[in-house]
Formats: sequence, C-alpha cells, structure tokens
Amino acid sequence: MTPIFRPDHEGIVSAAALLRAGCLVAIPTETVYGLAADATSDQAVAGVFAAKGRPGFNPLICHFPDAAAAACHVVFSPQAERLAQEFWPGPLTLVLPRQPECPVTARAGAGLPTLAVRVPAHPVARALLEACGFPLAAPSANRSGGVSPTTAAHVLADLDGRIAAVLDAGACAVGLESTVVDLSGDMPRLLRPGGIAAEAIEAGIGPLARGHTPGAAPASPGLLASHYAPSLPLRLDATHVGPDEALLAFGAPLPAGLVFNLSASGDLAEAASRLFAGLRWLDTEAQPHGLRGIAAMPVPRVGLGDAINDRLRRASAPPLGF
Ligand code: TXA
Ligand code: MG
Repeated sequence: MTPIFRPDHEGIVSAAALLRAGCLVAIPTETVYGLAADATSDQAVAGVFAAKGRPGFNPLICHFPDAAAAACHVVFSPQAERLAQEFWPGPLTLVLPRQPECPVTARAGAGLPTLAVRVPAHPVARALLEACGFPLAAPSANRSGGVSPTTAAHVLADLDGRIAAVLDAGACAVGLESTVVDLSGDMPRLLRPGGIAAEAIEAGIGPLARGHTPGAAPASPGLLASHYAPSLPLRLDATHVGPDEALLAFGAPLPAGLVFNLSASGDLAEAASRLFAGLRWLDTEAQPHGLRGIAAMPVPRVGLGDAINDRLRRASAPPLGF
C-alpha cells in the first residue's frame, strides 16, 4: 500500500527525503499529478519508466523551482526567455538544447540532445522543488497509455504499491497537461497542445509550426496516436447517443442514460479541468450499466478546446500495443 502524505510542511519534508533517497513520489501540479524522481539519478529515473511501463524512448519533463534553475540545465533562446517570462510558473513546457554539463541523467531525456523543462505553478510542487534542491523528472502519474491523473485517488488506481508515496493536494485546477513547445529547431513548434492555449503563445512569439518535424526521428513520443485512452471505445463529435453508449456531454446534454457533463455552461476551462476525471468515471460506471462505449459531444476547437479535442482524439484511437 502506498502511503498518502498531506500537503503540509511535514508531508513535503517527508516527500523530499524519499526523493533524495532515489524513491518515486507522485506529486500535485496545477495540470495533472506527476510521478516524480530525482532527475540526476539514473536509478531513480529508471524506476519511473518501470513503474509506468513507459517505453524508454519517450523522454520525461524536468521540473524546476524557477527559470534561473532551469537555465543552468538548458540553453535559453530569446524566444524561450520571452515565453518563460510570460507563462512561468505555469502549464508550459519548453524543449531546449541541454547545457554541456547538464546533470540530468541521459535516460530522463531518452538520450536526446534536448531537454523538456517546466516551472510548475502549484504551491506544493514549488515548495517540494525548493526542499529538494535537485530537478524532478515527472511524467504524468498514470500507467503508460492510460488517462492522466487529476486526483490522488486516480494515481493510486494506477500505481498503488508501485511507488513510495503520493502527496495529496486535492484535484488539479487545470486538468490537462502542459503545452509543449519545441524551441530547439529553426522554427518554434507546438508538440502538444495543453493548459496554455496556442493562440496565447503565438501572441508572444509569432506562428508555431504544428506536429513533429517532417522526416525527423524520434518524434515527440507524446504525439503517438493512442494515448490517454479509457478502456471503452470513444466515439467523437456525437450528435446522438446509441442504446449501449454513455455520454460525455458539453453544454446542453443529448438524451442519454449515463451522462458526465464536462461543462453544462459550455465553459472550456471547466471542461478541461473535468475531462480526465470524466473519462475515468464513465469508464468505470459504463460497464455495470451494461454499456459498451462512450459517445462524446463536440467541443469547440478554440483556446483550451484545441487541447481537449487533441486528448479526445487520442483517447479514441486504437491501442498501440506497448
Ligand atoms: O503537465 C505536464 O506536462 C505533466 C506534469 C506532471 O508536469 N507532465 C506530463 O509529462 O504530462 P508526460 O511525460 O506525460 O508528457 C511529456 C511530453 C511527452 O509527450 C514527451 O514525449 C514530451 O513531453 N517530451 C519530453 N521531453 C521531450 C524532448 N526532449 N523532446 C520532445 N518531446 C519531449
Ligand atoms: Mg503522460
């Protein structure tokens, strides 16, 4: 059984001690819960991949208490400085070239010459990073390919007994993972839409290229089609609900028996914060109700709706088989 720590001074000190000893601790961030390890410890980072069942070619994000700490590990461009200034602390991850002496283990970055860095806004994550004094490598704290956790209960549903502790600070406010922007190439590239709308980033630094670099390998593995997947099939842009389907609603719901409404008022931030909890809830409730699928109503593709649609599309793709 994995112990649950309260998000107070004692809980943070205990979590920091476990992390310093090379153990894995699930931690709250404003986006989703992360599975944290000392990013400079090869053994601890290997444990993250093992606990999640994550393929070794999919690199981890490194978390820092502030931009100055991140700048000791990666090379900032003027565009990176601008985005860090505007959006950190917050749900933005920047992919930048590693500093030559960067102490983060190569395994954390899947051997790439770049490193993904982020300064989270959650006060408990920040206090923990300060207490640790080393960067924390932290992917979302779910089994690889599954739905990201936005509560400590979600973390335990996937990882109970496989990690040393979970620091429980309640539900995550944003509910979607950070936006990942690659600034290591010729042109800024949106690798993953997320908690900060692409439009807001483009207002700061101009147009973003989308998707992965043509012909380049490896692609950002988070762009692999099937990800964030519930066990039941998910049907997108539904305008009706079948007799054997549950409904993931947005706005005024279609007639259906089992419904989870992302936002009755059609608010995208509220929908984002409830998306993963809704997918998990429908996944567990549908089967006892004799339902065999989830129909998802359309969500507008603007602002945070971009990231919501991205996650729904991945959740509806067939499994990858690893
Ligand atoms: O909000 C978040 O970003 C959460 C919290 C815990 O911070 N973390 C998270 O991590 O979502 P994860 O591992 O589930 O997703 C990280 C994404 C993956 O798609 C990974 O492929 C990509 O970032 N990534 C990491 N390092 C990269 C790099 N050097 N180059 C390209 N993509 C990278
Ligand atoms: Mg993830």
